[in-house]
Order: sequence, then C-alpha cells, then structure tokens
Amino acid sequence: MSPTTGPGVLDPADMRRVMGRFTTGVAVITTLDADGDPHGMTVNSLTSVSLEPPMILVCFGARARTALAVAASGRFAVSILAARQEPIARRFAGRGEDHFAGLPLTYGEHDVPVVPDALAHLECAVERRITAGDHVVVLGAVQRTCDRDGPPLAFLGGRFGDFTGRGHEAPAWFF
Ligand SMILES: Cc1cc2nc3c(=O)[nH]c(=O)nc-3n(C[C@H](O)[C@H](O)[C@H](O)COP(=O)(O)O)c2cc1C
Repeated sequence: MSPTTGPGVLDPADMRRVMGRFTTGVAVITTLDADGDPHGMTVNSLTSVSLEPPMILVCFGARARTALAVAASGRFAVSILAARQEPIARRFAGRGEDHFAGLPLTYGEHDVPVVPDALAHLECAVERRITAGDHVVVLGAVQRTCDRDGPPLAFLGGRFGDFTGRGHEAPAWFF
C-alpha cells in the first residue's frame, strides 16, 4: 500500500485510482435541452441523499453537455443500468458523440427521455446546484420512480463487471 499525504498534493490520476477502489453501480442521466434535443451521460457518482423528502445527488463535470442541459431544463431522469447494458454505458460515455444516434427514445411520465429496460428509473426536479471544484453537484428531488429485479452493472477500477455472490444477510436496517 503506497500512502499519499498532505493537502493539495494528490495528482488527479491518483485521485481517480484511489476512488476506483470504491465499487459502484452505473447509471445514465438524461434530459432535454431548451430546443427539445435529448442529452444523456453515463455516471457513477449517483448517491441517495434523503429519504424524506426523497432526494438524490449526481456530480457532473462542469463542462459536460448534459450538465448544461440539466441546468437549463431544471429536470432530469436517472436510469440505473442492468449488467447486460454495458454497451449503453459505453455509448453514453463517448466524448463529443451523439449519444442518442440510432436509439429509439422512450419517455418517462414527466416527458424526459429514459433508457429502456433499465433496472430503475427516477424522474427528478433540480433542487439545488453546488459548484465543487471542477464539478457541479446537482441535488434532485425525486418525483417518480419505477424498478424491477435483475443483475446490476458494476464499475470498479475503470472496468465494468457483474455483481455476484449475494450470499450475505441483508442488514436489519435496510427494509
Ligand atoms: C462508468 C463511468 C462513470 C462516469 N461517471 C461520471 C460522473 O459521475 N460524472 C461525470 O461528469 N462524468 C462521468 N463519466 C464521464 C461521462 O460519461 C462522459 O464525460 C460523457 O461523455 C459526458 O457526456 P456529455 O458531455 O454529452 O454530457 C463517467 C464515465 C463512465 C464510463
């Protein structure tokens, strides 16, 4: 184990590697811009913030096109990806590409495009935007959800994978 110490000395590549030890799921954030054009990007910074009222957060790179469209529209949808949706995760992470090219659009209840066949959808209104370094933290008030069972797409150390071995007991506080 190689320690890195001291404020302001952490190289961005080290920061990425260190946080890459934290296994996450993968989601696609979608929205419509002011012209009604769809935007979407792959994220793993999705976090549950509050249960009452229901609130989540996503950290957007300040220059991401989807971040600008979310700021303009004030709403967005989250699609939590299933294990077999790795190609969708790669598509929506491609820089400068038209992420929706050739994809049939499916809309949620609030007229925001969503990724079909995802494990869960959350439709959100922007509650607050907080600039944090080179990212913008967007708090979303959850307005509608749907979900289904299935294996999730996971991300660890820059690689996609499956989440297997669910043999442990669920903690008592979860349900
Ligand atoms: C697994 C994975 C997770 C990612 N998570 C984030 C994230 O949380 N925030 C972010 O700004 N970019 C994230 N990215 C990078 C964006 O998906 C990528 O920059 C995308 O091209 C932005 O698209 P846009 O500019 O059209 O909005 C992630 C990429 C991958 C592959």
